[in-house]
Amino acid sequence: MAINVKNVQKFFIINGRKIEVLHDINFSIGDGQIISIVGTSGCGKSTLLKVIAGLEQSTSGSVELNGKKIDHPSEKDIGVIFQEPRLLPWSSVEKNIEFGISQTLSKSEKKKIIREHVDLVGLTGFEKALPKQLSGGMQQRVSIARSLINRPNTLLLDEPFGALDAFTKINMQKEVLHIWEKEKTTLILVTHDIDEAIFMGDKIVVLSAKPGTVKKVISVELPRPRDRTSDDFARVRRLVYEQFFPKEELAVEYNI
Ligand SMILES: Nc1ncnc2c1ncn2[C@@H]1O[C@H](COP(=O)(O)OP(=O)(O)OP(=O)(O)O)[C@@H](O)[C@H]1O
Ligand SMILES: [Mg+2]
Repeated sequence: MAINVKNVQKFFIINGRKIEVLHDINFSIGDGQIISIVGTSGCGKSTLLKVIAGLEQSTSGSVELNGKKIDHPSEKDIGVIFQEPRLLPWSSVEKNIEFGISQTLSKSEKKKIIREHVDLVGLTGFEKALPKQLSGGMQQRVSIARSLINRPNTLLLDEPFGALDAFTKINMQKEVLHIWEKEKTTLILVTHDIDEAIFMGDKIVVLSAKPGTVKKVISVELPRPRDRTSDDFARVRRLVYEQFFPKEELAVEYNI
């Protein structure tokens, strides 16, 4: 699904004051592309994702999916993984994953797919556990499995791996890329992890804050699978860091 974000502006009323959170946001995503969005906390990343998902109305501007304006959430087309796991507290891991699964499937097909997805996110053995019996990262993995289960053609991920340890995070990034390669899903990934943005994205949209606006779009022209230790990767990393820190600070602070 090709996505076009056109002149998106968003105001919120905070303490009676009108605050501009997003200012004139423009970028596009080709069908089957991956876009990473990076920016400091509070710059409007989650708000932008909600506008793209149709969960939040922009004050002006528009978002088009394959040339068609969206103004309401469409779960069939767009899957969203929110920043915080939104699980049903009284339902088990497998019931949470099952929630929203296509009703056209037979009972045995559903069972098989749920088992595959529990395994995909490494939760085999925890099928019957309730969310409160899981760690934050495990809960997030349940959300990831739930949003993948119907294979939406567009997937919006809001810092999905933020609560995971470095090793699980790298494995989950690879798993999402496998699904992307297989299904040709269009992906938008909000992340505060610059290496993750580079590892995953065809393009990186750098947002600046107050109000959130596109500072730069960086194309990542590295072959996949990407090697985080390569010189080419480091060159892109430097380019992204330069958007946030003055050049003279980079060598000292990050040694890249
Ligand atoms: N529903 C809302 N009502 C009023 N203000 C809001 C609402 N949602 C977000 N905001 C404000 O919009 C701004 C951007 O918030 P947003 O959650 O989009 O930031 P973010 O970039 O996702 O931050 P983080 O990296 O911390 O998740 C913040 O100043 C926040 O207070
Ligand atoms: Mg956010």
